Amino acid sequence: MDRSLYEKIIGDIRRKGDITPEQLEIILTDEDGENEEILFENARRVAETVFGREIYLRGLIEFSSFCKNDCYYCGIRRSNKNASRYRLREDEILACCDSGARLGFKTFVLQSGEDPSFSDEDICRIARRIKEAHPDCALTLSIGEKSRESYEAYYKAGADRYLLRHETANEGHYARLHPDSLSCKNRRRCLYDLRDIGYQVGCGIMVGSPGQTMDNIYEDIEFMRRLGPHMIGIGPFIPHRDTPFADEAMGSVSITLRLLAILRLLFPDVLLPATTALGTADGRGREKGILAGANVLMPNLSPPDVRSKYLLYDGKICTGEEAAECIRCLEKRIESIGYRISGSRGDHPDRSGNK
Ligand code: 5AD
Ligand code: FES
Repeated sequence: MDRSLYEKIIGDIRRKGDITPEQLEIILTDEDGENEEILFENARRVAETVFGREIYLRGLIEFSSFCKNDCYYCGIRRSNKNASRYRLREDEILACCDSGARLGFKTFVLQSGEDPSFSDEDICRIARRIKEAHPDCALTLSIGEKSRESYEAYYKAGADRYLLRHETANEGHYARLHPDSLSCKNRRRCLYDLRDIGYQVGCGIMVGSPGQTMDNIYEDIEFMRRLGPHMIGIGPFIPHRDTPFADEAMGSVSITLRLLAILRLLFPDVLLPATTALGTADGRGREKGILAGANVLMPNLSPPDVRSKYLLYDGKICTGEEAAECIRCLEKRIESIGYRISGSRGDHPDRSGNK
């Protein structure tokens, strides 16, 4: 496509903070690599205006790989008999936070499958103990769909943020990715509850998940606009060999990067991670993500002996490294593209310094 027309479209999106389905399709399907750079440069400039050239870090602790759900795309789905399951003990989770704090982390993300053996009381106690030990740190939970009452209890116990990707805002597409026991409607209910309770909330999707159309991505953007998330996590779909989607194609890195850039133009101050899936699909995926407008990285703080067991997709990076090695590696990678790691909690600009 003609360069000046492309620039006009990008300028339009940026100015209006809005995009039409036609514009979305043009950008995601355009084959001109030079135009792509115009998009990324605009997204970078927007990110730099809001966040400078600083990248926020979140320390991810994958504390249980047991899951009662059976999402078709996910390697730790209940039906995967080849998955080796583990559960960290409470003192191990706390030790991960302690070593993360020593490495300079100011945010801990506790993530797991939906593991019923952790009761709400367990989660609340863990949250309280982490916040007691590290009052200067933010605590994020990413433990799936719960009742409003449960979310309220975690919040009272000290959780500040919650990540729950909506996966897709389209009911038909949702049903293509999940068994009947899970519904698009309940997913959305969870996200609205979380937001109303006061959490900083993250939603998101996989790019190129089986059956996803351009229209679906547009619906996702419309959903995000209604929800007003503080964070949006997107990464390419990567097949896992022991799932029903084993033979499906991987999501495109280029479309993921373009969508990251579009989200940055539409939501200038949203927290946008360059995800591990992006780093898995492309050796320089995380650097490319930052250069397309992302501003968050989520290195793994799980103990090395369990890392290779939390495999949502094939080929996951950083399963053999210690947290300290990943930090050094990331620091080098980020500095090589002219950015640096921030030492702050990295709250959403609307929520700086508090819940
Ligand atoms: N490929 C990429 N991302 C995946 N996730 C789960 N399975 C896969 C996969 N096969 C993502 C989902 C989930 C998040 C924790 O990881 O979007 O919400
Ligand atoms: Fe883990 Fe590079 S980030 S080794």
